[in-house]
Amino acid sequence: MDEKTLLKLNFKTLKMKAPFIPKAALVLGSGLGGIIGEENIISQLDYSELDSFPLSTVEGHRGRFIFADLAGVPIVAMQGRVHIYEGYGSAEVVRGVRLMLMLGASALILTNAAGGIDKAFSPGDIMLITDHISSFVPSPLIGENISSLGTRFPDMSRVYSSKLSEIALACARRLNIELKSGVYLQTTGPNYETPAEIRMYSALGASAVGMSTAVEAMAAAHMGVSVLGLSLITNPAAGISSVPLNHEEVQLVAKEAGDTLSALVKEIIAEVGKND
Ligand code: HPA
Repeated sequence: MDEKTLLKLNFKTLKMKAPFIPKAALVLGSGLGGIIGEENIISQLDYSELDSFPLSTVEGHRGRFIFADLAGVPIVAMQGRVHIYEGYGSAEVVRGVRLMLMLGASALILTNAAGGIDKAFSPGDIMLITDHISSFVPSPLIGENISSLGTRFPDMSRVYSSKLSEIALACARRLNIELKSGVYLQTTGPNYETPAEIRMYSALGASAVGMSTAVEAMAAAHMGVSVLGLSLITNPAAGISSVPLNHEEVQLVAKEAGDTLSALVKEIIAEVGKND
């Protein structure tokens, strides 16, 4: 089945579970799964209930859509995402984001764990994504254009919304969180980078590196939806510190600092709820 047909089919199933038109859509990265308390969940749909929907193979990534009331704002969220390194194509990876936006959400908030390339970053820092480099991963827009979503050759000069960024910065100030900012570079993973690769990414202007997010942001930009991206810096990238990287360490920091990011995301959503 082609992507357009699968989207239509999956949308029908997801729409039946939607109790409202969501104001915002959210992708919960590592460590952020807990932002939505079970008591706030109005309905949910496991990815496995959707036809041919890509399933997460990573431990600690729960796979479901959640409809919830967060800070009084109707939201839809993906708890768990799939990655290119799991063997999925970019279009498959962004299908969940496209479905959430097809429900009518006018803002997309993307979160992830990332390695810090900028030497001023420390583990636990939160980085506002100002722009991204997606040149090392296949575009999610490859293939027949789905013209009901957007144009064939979409502009990518303003993927990350300045209005949402201003809201994020104001919310961080209010919560006394120091919000860093920078350019996110996506790799396919699953391996972490070599020090030489990190030096190259640094020379290219990247501040942080990770294995998600840019393709999702591109899918949203294609649809004309405002995007906010927040990276939780879990470790200095390879060669920035001499310590070898491991997934358990990354998950631990994500979990520890997850509460701060959760608080920030909640505050942002409350603010987004006030804007039309
Ligand atoms: N590299 C790539 N992805 C990551 C990293 C990293 O250092 N840390 C968390 N996700």
